[in-house]
Amino acid sequence: MDNNFDVIVIGSGPGGYVCAIRAAQLGLKTACIESRKTLGGTCLNVGCIPSKSLLNSSEIYHKAQKEFGNLGIETSKIKLNLLKMMQNKNQSVSTLTKGIEFLFKKNKVTYLKGKGTIIDQNTLSVSNDEKKTKYKTKNIVIGTGSIPTSLPGIEIDEENIVSSTGALSFSKVPKELFVIGGGYIGLELSSVWKRLGSNVTVVEFLDQIIPGMDKDISSEFLKILKKQGINFKLESKVTGVELIKNKAIVDLTNNKTKKRERVECDKVLVAVGRKPNIGDDIINIGIKLNDQKKIEVDEKFRTSIQNIYAIGDVINKGPMLAHKAEDEGIAVAELIAGQAGHVNYDVIPSVIYTSPEVAMVGKTEDQLKKQNIKYKIGKFPFLANSRAKVNSETDGFVKILADEKTDKVLGVSIISAVAGTMIAELALAMEFGASAEDIARTCHAHPTHSEAVKEAAMAVAKRPIHF
Ligand code: NAI
Repeated sequence: MDNNFDVIVIGSGPGGYVCAIRAAQLGLKTACIESRKTLGGTCLNVGCIPSKSLLNSSEIYHKAQKEFGNLGIETSKIKLNLLKMMQNKNQSVSTLTKGIEFLFKKNKVTYLKGKGTIIDQNTLSVSNDEKKTKYKTKNIVIGTGSIPTSLPGIEIDEENIVSSTGALSFSKVPKELFVIGGGYIGLELSSVWKRLGSNVTVVEFLDQIIPGMDKDISSEFLKILKKQGINFKLESKVTGVELIKNKAIVDLTNNKTKKRERVECDKVLVAVGRKPNIGDDIINIGIKLNDQKKIEVDEKFRTSIQNIYAIGDVINKGPMLAHKAEDEGIAVAELIAGQAGHVNYDVIPSVIYTSPEVAMVGKTEDQLKKQNIKYKIGKFPFLANSRAKVNSETDGFVKILADEKTDKVLGVSIISAVAGTMIAELALAMEFGASAEDIARTCHAHPTHSEAVKEAAMAVAKRPIHF
């Protein structure tokens, strides 16, 4: 094999593999290095995909138990087969990771299996059990992703104290699950295990879940999750976890009252964020990091070394989300090929795949206030949406924030059974610089959840029809 490439991408997560495919499409001789046994990075192997499989299966299990009867569907006793549920999840993961291998072949991306190390700005080595090989390249793209963080003194063993990886593979349903962190991972996995039968307690350091989310949405979401039976301890700090005979004892202190508590549980999920996965080679070669140990890149994703680029969770831009990394992957491949790749960080949707789902794009009220931007609000509840009503999915609402003078949509938050799908319309509207009036005058099919978007847009001008 010729060991000279135009582009070598390190890491095959959503950023890396998409970048490699786009670079190859543009005629660049491209390789992608991956040290995991399968392609797809955290997202496909131990993140987005397996968690969505368990969220889907556990929701159906929950509905079969609690809701089928109301619909006139009679079942005999519903029984959980966790092993089979996990096998189904693993099968989905395996199909999708193999799909990337197929796409690499189709697009003529060379798949280099092993651990990639940058030797100098044009040389990398790839080492696996069999050998260590050197490769030459004109450009390097770092897409090495992120790894879970923990708290001081709390060591993740993936047995009793787990990260999301361990919590996606429990061999039996924990009786008591304690979750540290009321963010994306904490709430999605709390939902899974609560539905499968665990008693779940979430402890969150701040006074709201999903910090950064619009406060209205956050407090409504908290109410909904509490109604589903998940316990919350807000404004509390975990100070330690002790393992005694296969039980975990969690020490926590309320930030306000300073009251201390010791809680016994079977498993502890630590979901307090992730940190960039920066190898020694990145440090040794002198790539500049910021004070949060993220790789600093310019508007063209160039690191401090001219022909080395970085994308995704390792960089100092945007949220740690798979679709953000994908867009950066495409942009950087196009920039390397001499085209005009670009990512609009003002319009990156985010979704929490609980039931109901929560989705956001653009600014929150707090952010607008901080920036002294005057805005109008249009809100519409799903209680008044006919499709949500017939589906018994009336929790939640759509909230649109539009500029007070120009009516331009500045931010949207949605709680709905299908919020993750609905938010795409708003992202597109914002990319086109739409006003609330533009959305209000766009015909939306009836009966759909999306009519609530049109109604919220009409509510910006204080003229909703159905509320
Ligand atoms: P996160 O940043 O979403 O949430 C961490 C939470 O832990 C925060 O609410 C924080 O205030 C809290 N926390 C921090 N220290 C604490 C302490 N000592 N005690 C109690 N609470 C504490 O991080 P998470 O959930 O670990 O997710 C990591 C990344 O993965 C996120 O950046 C997210 O974007 C991504 N992700 C995205 C998903 C999606 O798009 N649906 C799903 C899962 C993860």
